Amino acid sequence: MSSVPAAVPMVDLRQQYHDLKDGIDACLADVLEQTQFIMGSNVQAFEAECASYLNVKHAIGCANGTDALHLAMRALKLGEGDEVITTPFTFIATAEAIAYVGATPVFVDIDPNTYNLSVEKVQAAITAKTKAIVPVHIFGTPCDMAPLQALAQEHNLFIIEDCAQSFGALTDNRQTGTVGHIGCFSFFPSKNLGAFGDGGMVCTNDDALAADLNMYRSHGSKERYIHSVVGYNSRLDEMQAAILRQKLPHIDRYNQERRRVAARYNELLSDLPVQLPLLTAPESETPSVPVFHQYTLLTDHREKIQAALTAEHIACAVYYPIPLHKQVAIQNEMTSQPSCPVSESHSERCLSLPIYPELDDATIVRIADTVRRALS
Ligand SMILES: Cc1ncc(COP(=O)(O)O)c(C=O)c1O
Repeated sequence: MSSVPAAVPMVDLRQQYHDLKDGIDACLADVLEQTQFIMGSNVQAFEAECASYLNVKHAIGCANGTDALHLAMRALKLGEGDEVITTPFTFIATAEAIAYVGATPVFVDIDPNTYNLSVEKVQAAITAKTKAIVPVHIFGTPCDMAPLQALAQEHNLFIIEDCAQSFGALTDNRQTGTVGHIGCFSFFPSKNLGAFGDGGMVCTNDDALAADLNMYRSHGSKERYIHSVVGYNSRLDEMQAAILRQKLPHIDRYNQERRRVAARYNELLSDLPVQLPLLTAPESETPSVPVFHQYTLLTDHREKIQAALTAEHIACAVYYPIPLHKQVAIQNEMTSQPSCPVSESHSERCLSLPIYPELDDATIVRIADTVRRALS
């Protein structure tokens, strides 16, 4: 009798839960006993532990990564008439947040190798209306922040880092999310540091911004029942904070395991006619460390590879099939059509393979063999 090979998911959240089951079950039981469900001691402790891990002055929990970006836009007082430069090769939330405050997203193309914002293109897109840049550390590959910072300084612009996919990644030896004015994180379950539901966080070294971020996430209130602006109900949930506290001590190991998987894929696929992701950022002379939220290659034969993987019960995904300047919802927010041929080509050719810390070598080999057969 021939046995059916095991299905391989994009990410295996059950295994991670089982590894930490005792601690997670106990901390959840404790929350239920304490009944401090909103802004309890776990939220406070997680914020402090995160700030310490990231080496940033303020880490403020919020409801999700989209809200983190929105809160950042509000705290920086971005609004109508302001232009915000960002990448079209990202999840829609990056641009939604710009639209929420009535600002205009200005898309510039990406670097073909890092898949991140091209600094030269950013420079060329700056106008008198530009107020902020939103670099996205896409797939966990850190943007080269030094030239972006230089540009921001020269033109008096804010930098909001979208770190939804890059928790624990280093850029020039600093944690992503701590270089710009505000860093925005997501704890969506499949993220490198994932909750068991939605969760997010904003980080800053600026005391005044931290006070405003705090205010906006709590109904625009700095003092209980005194509301100076219209804010939001965007708090990090106590149960999610308790779970995240269990996972945070393991994040470096998780990210190291993701790098192991990526390096192994690169080794096994190196002779194939595909463009593989970079294992380290080329432009950086000081340590820049990716965390491989996704392992994304580029191929002219995507459908063939997808079909072969699907036949083998191996998951794969296209992140993202349509660049944001081609999304109808976002086109309504734009004032001009950008030229982003690299993003468009990448959207047509990108394919992400399964990656998670627990992915074993035999399975990586099986996935790589399937890709190889599809291309032969
Ligand atoms: C690049 C990027 N930005 C923002 C977000 C939004 O995060 P959340 O889903 O927690 O709202 C995501 C999440 O998928 C993301 O990948």
